[in-house]
Amino acid sequence: MPDERPELTIRLMDATDLDRGFLEAIGALRPAELTRDQAISIYRHRLRSRVRTYVAIIDNRIAGTAAVFIEPKFIHSGGIVGHIEDVAVHPAFQKHGVGRALVVHLLNECRNFHCYKVILDCAEGVIPFYEKLGFHRWERAMRIDL
Ligand SMILES: CC(C)(COP(=O)(O)OP(=O)(O)OC[C@H]1O[C@@H](n2cnc3c(N)ncnc32)[C@H](O)[C@@H]1OP(=O)(O)O)[C@@H](O)C(=O)NCCC(=O)NCCS
Repeated sequence: MPDERPELTIRLMDATDLDRGFLEAIGALRPAELTRDQAISIYRHRLRSRVRTYVAIIDNRIAGTAAVFIEPKFIHSGGIVGHIEDVAVHPAFQKHGVGRALVVHLLNECRNFHCYKVILDCAEGVIPFYEKLGFHRWERAMRIDL
């Protein structure tokens, strides 16, 4: 990337982002080997499921992405929890503040939804990235493969 800071825009994903390198960006997390039709179908499923997918755009390319699911709970008097998922920055754009800008944006969205907390699972290696953004270790992740 050039020295002068190119403009960074963060907004909700739309289907045209598949033509701006969205799958390449999310591939920083894990390769998303999908046809365009498969990707569109998943995008629509996510919309119906109320998963909010955001993109960071630089020079009309998708530099990174992150998603959040907003969950109103029965406990905590109907309190609302934000679940962050799939934070990924294209390798060509890493270490330039894109990941931080995405997570800060999602946290502000969670504030707008009146979330009382925001949680996520991550690998050990990225814990310092999230700690710099104010997160702390909490509980343990559990998984079963079906
Ligand atoms: C982790 C990831 C999202 C960070 O994005 P990024 O745009 O490179 O990060 P930023 O440039 O915004 O970094 C913000 C700060 O965190 C630090 N940081 C970033 N990644 C880090 C890491 N893996 N370990 C330690 N610190 C890290 C940066 O040095 C920077 O520190 P500073 O504020 O002192 O300068 C990106 O590296 C990525 O997509 N990795 C592969 C996918 C992945 O692991 N995603 C997380 C899933 S939970």
